[in-house]
Amino acid sequence: MNTIDLRSDTLTLPTREMMQAIAETKLGDDVYGEDPAVNDLEVLSAKMMGKESALFTASGTMSNLIAVTTHTHPGNEIILGDESHIFWYEVGGVSAVGGVVMHTLPNSETGELDADMVSETIRPKNIHYPDTALICLENTHNRCGGIFLTQEYTKSICDIAHSYGIRVHLDGARIFNAAIAQNIPVSKLAGDADSVCFCLSKGLSAPVGSLLCGNQEFIGAARKRRKMLGGGMRQAGIIAAAGTVALQTTVNRLAEDHDNARQLALGLSSIPGISINPEMVQTNIVLFETPEAVPAAEFVKRMEERQVRLLCFGQRLVRAVTHRMVSSHDIAEALNRIEFLIMKL
Ligand SMILES: Cc1ncc(COP(=O)(O)O)c(C=O)c1O
Repeated sequence: MNTIDLRSDTLTLPTREMMQAIAETKLGDDVYGEDPAVNDLEVLSAKMMGKESALFTASGTMSNLIAVTTHTHPGNEIILGDESHIFWYEVGGVSAVGGVVMHTLPNSETGELDADMVSETIRPKNIHYPDTALICLENTHNRCGGIFLTQEYTKSICDIAHSYGIRVHLDGARIFNAAIAQNIPVSKLAGDADSVCFCLSKGLSAPVGSLLCGNQEFIGAARKRRKMLGGGMRQAGIIAAAGTVALQTTVNRLAEDHDNARQLALGLSSIPGISINPEMVQTNIVLFETPEAVPAAEFVKRMEERQVRLLCFGQRLVRAVTHRMVSSHDIAEALNRIEFLIMKL
């Protein structure tokens, strides 16, 4: 029985073309700005995001940390969703390292922050208050099941922020999924935000890395911050070379992952006891609830025994993510194994 691993799109292994680029790339010292593969990747990334400049970082977490700490000063406040990745999964880094206060607002089911609530939360100038310096959005939204933000929504929040002289950072770890799902250039989704980061090592299948993009002044300051955090990686072209191939060859195929996610969602919706709304599956993340009597942790464990790997995401919530290493055939097989387990329960 083959293992079908749906825990995350970070599991994707590099393609043969990426391995070839890694073997053949010219290298230099990136801290001196002399690694041609890193420089090429940064130029290409900035261009795709419609920004002046870009910075190669080790991970999405590092990109978000650099972005938030570059946009803010210790004692500032940032506004972000209570389901955001920065709030849940980044070890409180922006507070620990950057000294900022995280002011969370409820994320709607669709990953949005309510615009009126955002306006009301921005602090008036007052000697007692921390200064609100930044709003963080997430597209696609991981904990909201890979749902995408539209360009119009992102613009509406950026317009509010900018009217108060506040900046917006967009955690676009999976922004290419958002662009492909909406059939629009990724630069449109990133355009209004002051900074955006995206990951190479998720659906795009590169082994390592993330890019932070923004204007030249911001990226100059971010580059210094990356050095402070120990993220100057010398001959980083070894990994950047694969990143460039990822951007050139794997973006359009994300549509296939979205089709597979829909296939999974529709299949799950017809299994008695499983709760899911397939309409909410817009990209490559599928969230579903286990039958009432079966805690998610137990369900995940039992599926693991049947060689289908899933993530426990809550009391009864399970996450499955489609990616390049699982085919439509694998999804059909995973559905068979899930149905078989449910019948036996
Ligand atoms: C929305 C979002 N932002 C940031 C990250 C962090 O990326 P990394 O795992 O490369 O640190 C992730 C990872 O899953 C993510 O889903």
